[in-house]
Amino acid sequence: MNTKSKLLILSLFIVMVPYNNCGPVPGAKDSNSTTSNSTSSKPSTGNTTTSTLSAGETFFNNTVKPAFNAKCMSCHNEPRFGGNGPLTIYGYGPMKTMLSAGGTTSVNNNLINKVQNIITHTGGNFCLPSGIQISPCSEIVAWWQTEFKMGNAGFSGGIDSITATGDVTGSAIDAKNPTAQVSVFFYINGPVGTGTSLGSVLTSGTDHLFTFSVPTAFRDGKPHDLYAYGTAATTNNLLPGAPKTLVAYSQKAVGMTFYNASLLPQLQTKCKNCHQVSYSLHYFSLLKPTPFAGGTATNNELINKASGSVSHGGGNLCGTKNSSPCLEMQTWWAKEFGP
Ligand code: HEC
Ligand code: HEC
Repeated sequence: MNTKSKLLILSLFIVMVPYNNCGPVPGAKDSNSTTSNSTSSKPSTGNTTTSTLSAGETFFNNTVKPAFNAKCMSCHNEPRFGGNGPLTIYGYGPMKTMLSAGGTTSVNNNLINKVQNIITHTGGNFCLPSGIQISPCSEIVAWWQTEFKMGNAGFSGGIDSITATGDVTGSAIDAKNPTAQVSVFFYINGPVGTGTSLGSVLTSGTDHLFTFSVPTAFRDGKPHDLYAYGTAATTNNLLPGAPKTLVAYSQKAVGMTFYNASLLPQLQTKCKNCHQVSYSLHYFSLLKPTPFAGGTATNNELINKASGSVSHGGGNLCGTKNSSPCLEMQTWWAKEFGP
């Protein structure tokens, strides 16, 4: 072991020590005090130290490092068997520095370029025969995405939320051109190639936000996977976090007619002092929870509040769930979500 490598090992420990001290390490004291016969041993809180790590560092430790261990030990090892590769490759800090430099995408940065010998590497190209799909390059790509929450091609953002009526909101920023607005392309029931294209929208504002409405045909109360791509609908341009599963509903004409004729007049007398009363507002209460998530005619927020079966500022305005206006709420639910 030469002095340089001793120093490297030593510095790895020095880097680790302050880290362990920066938060409580449950159970650490107990496990060290083997001579103590204290009877007040608290229930073990387990290995909670890992939960203080960022998603990126956890991913590096659990996925990237084992891949390096499996493939790179012949040179990056101590003692050295076949070469003199530095041990920096097992350290989150130095590898993140390489991952963050030299390019702004998962497939173009100093780390992945080094491992592919695009930046000259004594160990040569380790992602043969097919490049980034091959371990350990595939792990590096996935790590980059975890670390920077970006899609393959360097988009950050993604789909933030989808309402029970299929309104989608999110954002998309192109790391290579962060000020430009981005066209976001949607596909449903499969990725580009197999899924159905739903068209595109352009982001707007400084946060590059988008809104999008899932077409009525897919607001059928059944789960669908929604894919979103930045700038162009290509596999590589999938936004982070996509696909997202949605279950959405569309308001029915028979439901609205019934609400307006049979419920609205009652609610205007019984609820209007304290509340806004409208079809679309109450429709959202009717969908909490959605039928897909277990909602029924008698357990949704609207009937639960109106009947006082859950705590309600207005108390019980129905008597029982089978009396007006709760009875009509059940009929309305059946018209919207029934067979
Ligand atoms: C044949 C020996 C050999 C093998 C096998 C090898 N490397 Fe290397 N690697 C080296 C040597 C020597 C260096 C330092 C000189 C250089 O940069 O090429 C190095 C440097 C590196 C560096 C730069 C580290 C730094 O801190 O600058 C990275 C990253 C790296 N290797 C990654 C890998 C990975 C990942 C693997 C396994 C998939 C691997 N290497 C396999 C010999 C090897
Ligand atoms: C005396 C005032 C009052 C009346 C009358 C009243 N409510 Fe409310 N309601 C409240 C208050 C206050 C809240 C918010 C706190 C809570 O959830 O209890 C609320 C909450 C709700 C909610 C939850 C969603 C939301 O808007 O916060 C629903 C649904 C609801 N009420 C339905 C009804 C219906 C239907 C009627 C008429 C049949 C009614 N309420 C009559 C006071 C009232």
